[in-house]
Amino acid sequence: MNKSDCLCRVCSSTISDIFDFGNMPIANNLMPVINDTYTKNEYKYNMKIGVCINCSSLQIVNVPEKELMFNNQYAYFASQSEFMKSHFEKLGNKVMQLMDKEKDYILEIGSNDGIFLKYFADKQYKHLGVDASENVVETAKKNGVNALCSFFDEETSIEINNKYGKAKIIVITNTMHHIENCQEVAKGINNILAEDGTLIIEDPYLLDMYKIGSIEQVYAEHNFIWSLHSYKTLFEKHSIKLFDVEHFDTHGGSMRYYFSKQNLNKTSTMQEYINLELNNKIFDINTFIKFQENCINISKELYNFVVSKSKEGKIIAGYGATAKSATTLNYSNIDKNLISCIYDSTPFKIGKYTPGTHIEIKDAKLFTKDSPDYTILFAWNHKKEIIEKEKNNKSKTIWVEYIPELKLTYEN
Ligand code: TMP
Ligand code: ZN
Repeated sequence: MNKSDCLCRVCSSTISDIFDFGNMPIANNLMPVINDTYTKNEYKYNMKIGVCINCSSLQIVNVPEKELMFNNQYAYFASQSEFMKSHFEKLGNKVMQLMDKEKDYILEIGSNDGIFLKYFADKQYKHLGVDASENVVETAKKNGVNALCSFFDEETSIEINNKYGKAKIIVITNTMHHIENCQEVAKGINNILAEDGTLIIEDPYLLDMYKIGSIEQVYAEHNFIWSLHSYKTLFEKHSIKLFDVEHFDTHGGSMRYYFSKQNLNKTSTMQEYINLELNNKIFDINTFIKFQENCINISKELYNFVVSKSKEGKIIAGYGATAKSATTLNYSNIDKNLISCIYDSTPFKIGKYTPGTHIEIKDAKLFTKDSPDYTILFAWNHKKEIIEKEKNNKSKTIWVEYIPELKLTYEN
């Protein structure tokens, strides 16, 4: 076991067993053009991840400056997925039941393009979104959402409290794992969550990531992968208690966590997942080592496949210029010389190039006409939605999945 000098941001224990990825770009830093100057100046950092066997938190040990990741060029617009829109609409309906429309307001941290708060804006509920990236905040505002461009920290929580008072509901979906200074956020939440309020967090779940070998859930931005145990450790320090969880298949397996300042009865689902984590040995370093070996094998298998098909003269493309794929592509050395392009529907991404590997991103509308021989499904978490859509478009290709293992699907 390798011990390092890095301390866990959750519980301050020493982080164990560091997985060194070498030089990596920032996953969402798409390049507008490819030329010598841009390529030479592309920001890279030595990405290393480790696990804390005291609280089970998996984290990047050397996170780049947050302003390099979240700025006015943020590339991820959550509303590209119809499935995710309906997923959040369901959460919205559930949350509205907990609110008194006249009195209460909901705060969302990491409100992105307004995918979730739009339902509250449409129904005239009091709400506020906070997001650190100006361009997604602008899109949220265009969607009628009341949004503030800021990193959420203790200071922001005081400002929001002065202006809006305590929040009945705080929602943080697919964002908490972006935030390096999780203690500061927990302090801020403690300041602003009403005594009878509910904090709801949702993000990719550690046990699912271990199970399917999706190391690419980690990249400069996804700085943590959380579990029940690690979230409990963090929030109990700030007198906020976990009382329920709900599991979803979204993003390869996600957990939704419910917290309160009150001493609510813990649900049997929460207890089941606590036991599941213990039975799956999340505090045993060998679990992490096995996961690491599995991930290395997945990367090698994908690389060998791409090289062999390329030698046969086949056209290999990708679908979904996901931030996740930046980890796999850069770690596996699969670049523009092996992949013809990646198709994506996000207007902001189209015409740009993937970080580090410089693969062109093309409009997904061109996919049917281009019909690449093989298409690697980088947005594997949106498989059903994408394959169905392309089937309807009568697109022809052989789909290539690589998580949890290499699999070819002759759908069309
Ligand atoms: P994500 O896995 O981080 O959600 O990213 C998914 C990417 O795939 C995002 O860039 C949008 C893109 N995408 C499409 O191009 N077409 C689709 O139908 C869906 C659902 C996503
Ligand atoms: Zn820890």
